[in-house]
Amino acid sequence: MKIITTTEELQKLRKEIDGSVGFVPTMGALHNGHLSLIRQARDENEHLIVSIFVNPTQFLEGEDLDAYPRKEEADIRICELAKVDILFMPSISSMYEKDELCIGAPAIRGYILEGQKRAGHFDGMLQIVMKLLNISSATRAYFGKKDAQQLSLISQMVKNYFMSVSIVPCEIIRDESGLALSSRNIYLNSDEKGRALSLSRSLKEATKMIMSGEKSVVNIKENMHFHLKDIDSVEYVCIVDREFNIRDEIEIGDSIILVAGKVGGVRLIDNIWI
Ligand code: PAJ
Repeated sequence: MKIITTTEELQKLRKEIDGSVGFVPTMGALHNGHLSLIRQARDENEHLIVSIFVNPTQFLEGEDLDAYPRKEEADIRICELAKVDILFMPSISSMYEKDELCIGAPAIRGYILEGQKRAGHFDGMLQIVMKLLNISSATRAYFGKKDAQQLSLISQMVKNYFMSVSIVPCEIIRDESGLALSSRNIYLNSDEKGRALSLSRSLKEATKMIMSGEKSVVNIKENMHFHLKDIDSVEYVCIVDREFNIRDEIEIGDSIILVAGKVGGVRLIDNIWI
């Protein structure tokens, strides 16, 4: 495995590669959620690039940029074992210049839910993903459904900017109790972890209602709020279609149920695709 730290080196190396290239962008502190993307990309491509970069422009003032978990040595080992060909770990100065041209999230879909709670987050996220997709010139890039709105906005960016990469959505990986894996789960103590399970439980209950024929979003959300009592503050419960237009009726095959809330000081998101 080659570890590359500058954009110039990666671009040079990329030119020497023939055949399909899979790309998995991450912010590190790798867990089995990341690993499932890496494995899928390994299976589906001749070459595999993974990036680890804690992107400052997608963290808002007061968020956990400085405290964001960093586990460089363990991450390198995980990537080696997963047979990654190129691990890209750039510095901030190699990714950003002063006074840059920026691309922005779409005015409606980019500013609801996560985009409303974290205004500006998606602008920074799209900015770095655009850069990473361009430098890697990947055939396919892999993103988790766990960050459903992120995935939807990246797909929209690729479409709107006529980029040639294929975006591959990957399933949400959970621990044995149902908690969706996240780098931020390490902040949870055992009591908080127990209470955090309400998020996935509320989604399971919603799925059960839908399986027994319920279509009304109002009824489903009411039932979800009942199951979310143990969450310290519920930030939103929402049902959208695959393009993040708000739904008032379930359509099977084109609905996503999303939930966000804080447990202790930790902000968690989860969702299920119906
Ligand atoms: P990060 O949070 O490190 O996640 C990297 C990728 O792993 C994302 O596509 C995310 O959706 C996926 N992922 C995280 N937890 C997952 C889980 N439990 N199951 C399946 N996939 C999971 O998302 C980012 O980094 C950044 O915003 C990034 C796209 C790298 C841009 O900076």
